[in-house]
Amino acid sequence: MSILDVERVRADFPFFGNHADGDPPLVYLDSAATSLKPQAVIDAVQNYDRHLSSNVSRGGYALARATTGAYEEARAKVAEFIHAASPEEVVFTKNATEALNLVANVLAWADQPHRIGRGDGITLTEMEHVSNIIPWQLVAEHTGAVVTYLGITDDGRLDLSRLDEQITARTKAVGITHVSNTLGSVNPVSAVVARARQVGALVVLDCSQSAPHLDLDVRTLGADLVVFTGHKICGPTGVGVLWGRRELLVSLPPFLGGGSMTENVTCAGSRFTAPPWRFEAGTPPIAQAIGLGAAVDYLSGIGMRSVTAHNQNLADYALKHLQSIDGLHVVGPVDTADRAPIVSFVIDDTDADELGELLDNQHVAVRVGRQCAHLVCARFKVPTVVRASFHLYNDTDDVDALVSALRHERTPLDTQAVRHAEATA
Ligand code: ALA
Repeated sequence: MSILDVERVRADFPFFGNHADGDPPLVYLDSAATSLKPQAVIDAVQNYDRHLSSNVSRGGYALARATTGAYEEARAKVAEFIHAASPEEVVFTKNATEALNLVANVLAWADQPHRIGRGDGITLTEMEHVSNIIPWQLVAEHTGAVVTYLGITDDGRLDLSRLDEQITARTKAVGITHVSNTLGSVNPVSAVVARARQVGALVVLDCSQSAPHLDLDVRTLGADLVVFTGHKICGPTGVGVLWGRRELLVSLPPFLGGGSMTENVTCAGSRFTAPPWRFEAGTPPIAQAIGLGAAVDYLSGIGMRSVTAHNQNLADYALKHLQSIDGLHVVGPVDTADRAPIVSFVIDDTDADELGELLDNQHVAVRVGRQCAHLVCARFKVPTVVRASFHLYNDTDDVDALVSALRHERTPLDTQAVRHAEATA
């Protein structure tokens, strides 16, 4: 029995009406790559394009003021969704990747005590998506800082056994994912935050895979900076979020320069506006931010606690049923505590990329490959994995469809041929 009325939820997503009459619908199990979009979000984006269609923070006419109002209202909705102290703590970016690049770079340009320089430490984890690795590696290359990584235990959890050695008095920043995009593990953020506090390091939390599933509360998470992307929480592509404690954002220099982030520009130099606008140079993703406001309204209307419980049940069900397949190995925790609805796996003697294609032939959509988590694949000595990820519009029938498609692929070819011959006789 599901906590959500999945049939009603699916009615909100036009995607499910896409297939032609008589064709089997696609079983969409790739929400960790991007979620589907409800009609309310599509309408909000279209409403901007049709009726507002003006810029923000610039125009001296009523329509432009209305657009600015809608954009700032979206910021307030996002702030409320993550329990931020004020909308001024919410910066709109292009995506989570841009937010992480912003943070890594401005920390290299910041005043002390946060400035990352030669010999300083940046601690990441082997679970990170490459977007929370490469920006830091680039900054380390340019500053002479040193990047270290917290490891992963054999059961797919963050290895905290050397936390005190890896986060030291020289550490300036700790970049950690809240939920691994490949392993599905929900990380013990509070333990990492506690250690970072002891040494005065900032914690940058990548919530790209947790924002879709958990009721994020930035006040209790304890991180200094949080990033996530809109398109994984039922919002449009092209918009992401950086949240930061107000006093920290105020102390940081801008990342990109351009319109709307300046108070005054002279030949000698420029003075910048306060956050969040300081970090939003140029015309921002207006339609997308407004669409994101509609997405958080939609999810809040359903209730994030119900979404969490529903998705947790799906993760439990998927773990149990997938592991009943001979030769299938889950890459990630198999216990269901602190587990997001993301299940990666490999199957003995089967190429993951080929498996993706075979599943597609059976109308099941999964992600295959390294999942942009190269260190995870290296850690578990697998070249690639198959990843199934679930969201509020999935149900146990979708898991059954995946399991049945995999069983079909595991059936020896001669048996399949006999079955086919019998069925068509
Ligand atoms: N970052 C997205 C994923 O993990 C694309 O699939």
